[in-house]
This record gives sequence, C-alpha cells and structure tokens, in this order.
Amino acid sequence: MNFCVLFRKALSWLARSTAKLAAKWHPHLVLKSDVPTFPFCEDGLATLHNSEFLVNERFQRAYSLGKQTGSWHNHDLRWRIHVLLWCATWAAQCSGAFVECGVYRGGFARAIIDYINFESLNKTYYLFDTFAGFDHSQFNESERRTIASNYHYEDTFNAVRQEFSSMTSVRLVRGSIPESLVDVGSVAFLSIDMNCVVPEIAAAKFYWPHMSPGAVMVLDDYGFTIHHQQKLAFDQLAKEWNVEILSLPTGQGLIFKPGMSA
Ligand SMILES: C[S@@+](CC[C@H](N)C(=O)[O-])C[C@H]1O[C@@H](n2cnc3c(N)ncnc32)[C@H](O)[C@@H]1O
Repeated sequence: MNFCVLFRKALSWLARSTAKLAAKWHPHLVLKSDVPTFPFCEDGLATLHNSEFLVNERFQRAYSLGKQTGSWHNHDLRWRIHVLLWCATWAAQCSGAFVECGVYRGGFARAIIDYINFESLNKTYYLFDTFAGFDHSQFNESERRTIASNYHYEDTFNAVRQEFSSMTSVRLVRGSIPESLVDVGSVAFLSIDMNCVVPEIAAAKFYWPHMSPGAVMVLDDYGFTIHHQQKLAFDQLAKEWNVEILSLPTGQGLIFKPGMSA
C-alpha cells in the first residue's frame, strides 16, 4: 500500500468518525447523506414528528368543510388548521365571543364551527372583513411593494353570507378595520389574519382589554417572512402588554390573555 492510498483511507476514516460523533452529540443535526423523507411536508413546514391528527375523522371533516369554501385555493395548510382548531377548542371554555378579523371566504370559521360544534355553545361568532380586499390607504411603502402585489381578493360578501346563512350564531360585519370594529362584550377567541400591519394592530389593541382570562389570540401571519413587519409590530405590542408570543413552526403566533385562575 503506497502512501497516497494510506492517506486517503485515513482521511475517509476521519470523516466517518467525525460524522458519527457529530450525530451522537447533536442529534438534531441531519447529515446530508441522511436526509429523510418527511411524512409531513406542506405549507412551509416539514417534520418527522407524529401527525396522527391528519387521520382523525373529526379533523378531516372540519378541514374539508373549511377547504370547500375556497378560502385556501389549492393550498393545503393542515397543521395550521390543527393549531387553530386546538385553540378554538380551548377558547370554547372561556367566557365571551369568537372574533375573526380577516375572513376572506370563511375557511377558518367554517372549520372551527364544525369542529367544536359552535352552534351548541351559546356564543356568537363575529366575522369582520371588508369582504372586498385591502384598504390600500393602510399600506406603508414596503407593504405596497410586497403585500399589495402578492394578494388579490375579490368580493366575497355574498358567498360568505350564503355559507353561514343557516347559522344563527354567526354575524358578518362588513367594512374596513379599524372603523368597522364594534364592542362585542367579552372575547374568548380572536383570530387576526389581514396580511397588513395597520388593521391587525388596531384590532389587537381594540379587543385586548375585552379578552377574558385564558382567551387566545391567533396571529396567522406572525412568522411568515413576507409578513415580517407584522411580527415586529406585534413584538412591540407584546412588550407593552408584558406577554410573550409563542412562535410556531407553522408560521402562526399565539398569545394567551393572562389571569386565568387554576
Ligand atoms: C388572508 S385573507 C383571510 C383568510 C381567512 N382567515 C380564512 O379563513 O381563510 C385576508 C383578508 O383580510 C381582509 N382585510 C385586509 N385588510 C382589511 C381591513 N383593513 N379591514 C377588514 N378586512 C381586511 C381581506 O379582505 C381578506 O379577506
């Protein structure tokens, strides 16, 4: 065996040993040659972790009702909806109304109402939207360049009215937030999904004092790169409220209203 062969063998042994040690000490590191096939990979999230909620019939039914509204087009966002349904289930036990700011075709609401049998809860579900897209006067310069050209919303008022027509607990409120916001009494659940800083911060500030102890606020856009300005604004607000936002790998952000007794 000449020196060159010996040297190459030694190098390859060293590389293999280093890789093994790295995997042992830092199991979260995925070595290039070991890249696995992810059983869940959609909507910007890939994970090897347990996702058995996907085969839960109650979840599947609620998800498909939400999807049928057309709110998510051809996109699938099952883990995001899983989180949303978990939050709604939690909020069903808190006192107050459900409020959604940013409804589009009502996908989130339709899934939630089915999953938690909302009609049996003796609560009201408020759906706030222009039902005709953005109020362009609310964009800052950066949003005008990024958000405005990335999203297009048609008039969905009649479709949403039709979708929820049989549900006596659902109220549609049409108009631009913040001008359209109204006092709904105490709030148990607040979903904010308007892809724009001004109305989102205004809605959060308006309803925060009315949120019951333990009530949950779901920020749909919080961790999405394109919505970074929303994240910065909510981080600032959370500091003022002395709470922390839970940043999820789905892109959502969660805030729970403090003060719930054990
Ligand atoms: C991403 S969509 C909401 C999707 C919805 N959460 C769902 O269930 O699929 C964003 C919505 O925010 C609404 N929106 C944007 N700016 C608004 C404002 N200032 N006031 C009210 N609604 C607004 C748009 O009309 C659009 O329907």
